[in-house]
Amino acid sequence: MLISVRKMELTRHPDAVNGTFWPIPSVLRDAVNSFQRRGNAYMCGSGFPRNGNGFMTKTFDYQAPENHLEKRAQLSPLLVAKLFDPPPGGRASYRGEASVWMQIHEGLLGASATLPRWSEDLLSKDRVEEIDRLAPRILALGRQLVQHAHGHHHIEDDFFFPTFLRAFPELESPIDLLEGDHEILAVVLDDLEKSVMDFGRSLGVEQTAKRDAVLKAGEVLTDRAWRLDRLFTRHIGDEEEICLPVLYRI
Ligand SMILES: [Fe+2]
Ligand SMILES: [Fe+2]
Repeated sequence: MLISVRKMELTRHPDAVNGTFWPIPSVLRDAVNSFQRRGNAYMCGSGFPRNGNGFMTKTFDYQAPENHLEKRAQLSPLLVAKLFDPPPGGRASYRGEASVWMQIHEGLLGASATLPRWSEDLLSKDRVEEIDRLAPRILALGRQLVQHAHGHHHIEDDFFFPTFLRAFPELESPIDLLEGDHEILAVVLDDLEKSVMDFGRSLGVEQTAKRDAVLKAGEVLTDRAWRLDRLFTRHIGDEEEICLPVLYRI
């Protein structure tokens, strides 16, 4: 029987993010440094041409409500039927690459849960001194989260997913779902990055207008950060359900 790997046990550790940095493995840092944003006409690892409008095969329609990242509540039965069972012992059995991957996800989830909370906290402040104290941490976390997430997706799309598909072609639809999610997340991350930059600019506004400028930019940042957090939770939970049993076998 297929057991959900993480969906109900995604642990959130906002306190694990100390406000400045969280560990980024060197392999990911290298990828972040070499990261180049993809255009819309990206050819995904499984070979379906993408044009930014989603795709449909005989068995799989990413845009359908049961599949689209912003609409699905779980993996559809069609996709679940294709997945490998997790090993005996569940999560505790995952070692090596799988364990590192889960740690990276914890970092991303911790950051995505923390950013909107810090941003909301800022919106409740009246004094400029309090805003000045919180704002740099929010700015730093927002920048790191966007960079870390782009780099992570880059590695998955260009390394992990093609490797999985070469070993297990039957996983084409589940992997396509994850690549479709990454396209949605790329847009959401771009929106968040813009709001982080606007937030940073608001900190340089002259003193009398600064509070209003920062709070206005903070409101937009909060909304976009909550959106990312919601989609990350869905995507990463499903991604681990699909991919961790693969890493165990590969
Ligand atoms: Fe992913
Ligand atoms: Fe991931």
